[in-house]
Amino acid sequence: MKIAVLGTGYVGLVTAAGLSEFGHSVVGADKVAAKIEAIRRGRIPIYEPGLDELLESNLRKGTLSFSTDLAATVQAADVIFVCVGTPQGDDGSADMSQIEEVSRLIAENLNGYKVVVEKSTVPVKTSVRIKRTISLYNKTGAEFDVASNPEFLREGAAVPDFLEPDRIIIGVETDRARDLMFRIYDRFKDRILVTNIDTAELIKHASNSFLSMKISYINLMANLCERTEADVELVAKGMGLDPRIGPRFLKAGIGFGGSCFPKDIRALIRIGDDLGVDMSLLKETERVNQGRARIFIDKLKSALWILKDKKVGVLGLAFKPETDDVRAAPSIRIIQALLDEGACVRLHDPKAGDNMREFFPEDGVRTVYCSSPYQAAEGANALLCCTEWKEYAELDLARIRDLMVNPILVDGRNMFDPAAVSAQGLEYFSIGRR
Ligand code: UDX
Repeated sequence: MKIAVLGTGYVGLVTAAGLSEFGHSVVGADKVAAKIEAIRRGRIPIYEPGLDELLESNLRKGTLSFSTDLAATVQAADVIFVCVGTPQGDDGSADMSQIEEVSRLIAENLNGYKVVVEKSTVPVKTSVRIKRTISLYNKTGAEFDVASNPEFLREGAAVPDFLEPDRIIIGVETDRARDLMFRIYDRFKDRILVTNIDTAELIKHASNSFLSMKISYINLMANLCERTEADVELVAKGMGLDPRIGPRFLKAGIGFGGSCFPKDIRALIRIGDDLGVDMSLLKETERVNQGRARIFIDKLKSALWILKDKKVGVLGLAFKPETDDVRAAPSIRIIQALLDEGACVRLHDPKAGDNMREFFPEDGVRTVYCSSPYQAAEGANALLCCTEWKEYAELDLARIRDLMVNPILVDGRNMFDPAAVSAQGLEYFSIGRR
């Protein structure tokens, strides 16, 4: 199969590398020449375990290449995966201008039957818009189909998620498109679910919003636990033993962040509002999530009272471990609150420091970036954990205690055993337990 992947962001790169690994001939295209140049030289702009190797081996085999010539890439392809960005607009809805632009480009280069696959996360009914746009600008009258094939990649695990997916959702409206999509994923025949296009589009938003809801739910339970003798870790465990609930995505903490959950839930709320459906369940999910940073800061204040001029170490800036991504990271809201209260922050992350500098530039006084967690603890009045990187779980807590002015640890991810932390002489605050 000859496949074009339009857009070489996070989803585009993983899709291009993964599809070429399945044996297809793939061209990844992007109009930003500097991006393509960097990828060709093996310098990918994101940190994703295993992606470098996957790209390199398929580039070497010749099944994968990259181009800035979008027109030629479209003309040569049987199937076109649309992986351009759908960033969040000011009103919470997805900004679809890149999808529209690519649809026009496809229309202008339609030299025979092709399937245009929506891979980016898009609102339900987007396919109708894409179809209309392609028809509007289609000069040759060549036939085409639109399909939806949402991605469920988790950052930090995107390569295994693509190469060994739980499920493949294919939304189509013709047998011809379905057959081509089956050929692309023929090795996963047993886990393909074929639906109509609206359903496939909705499955993506529905899945992410459901998982977000699970997280806000357990965070709500954590609030209850904090006012009782209950322990949220055990509440989650007890709930998770019920196979109808399952143990995953029941980790209480400082809330969900990243490039998907916060954006997707807002987009789905917007879709529902536009369609006249009451979306209060999801609005509440989002409100609970936004309140997490304040609850976390209040724990710190209960320990230190006044934050003005206090030094606060922050361990973990990425929205979750194993990524350098700080988009919508809960740490941003937390750091902003600390700075607003007049505290000085000493920030550390194994991977995400450079990305966070764009949000909070280093000034050497109020905002300092540290090269190790120990440096972040030096002279600090308190230390916060915002991301559960493995290396933090292995910290020498006695050394941390000796470096700090006040040995106070506020753990937003319940990484540590409270008894073990106390045994090292630190005062410990965590989420939903004593
Ligand atoms: C998510 C979906 O999991 C993936 O299927 C989709 O394609 C993209 O969005 P991702 O954003 O990479 O993936 O991260 P995920 O591991 O789902 O975590 C999202 C956020 O939720 C993180 O901030 C994480 O810390 C938080 N989280 C997750 C919790 O607070 N508790 C949990 O139990 C699980």
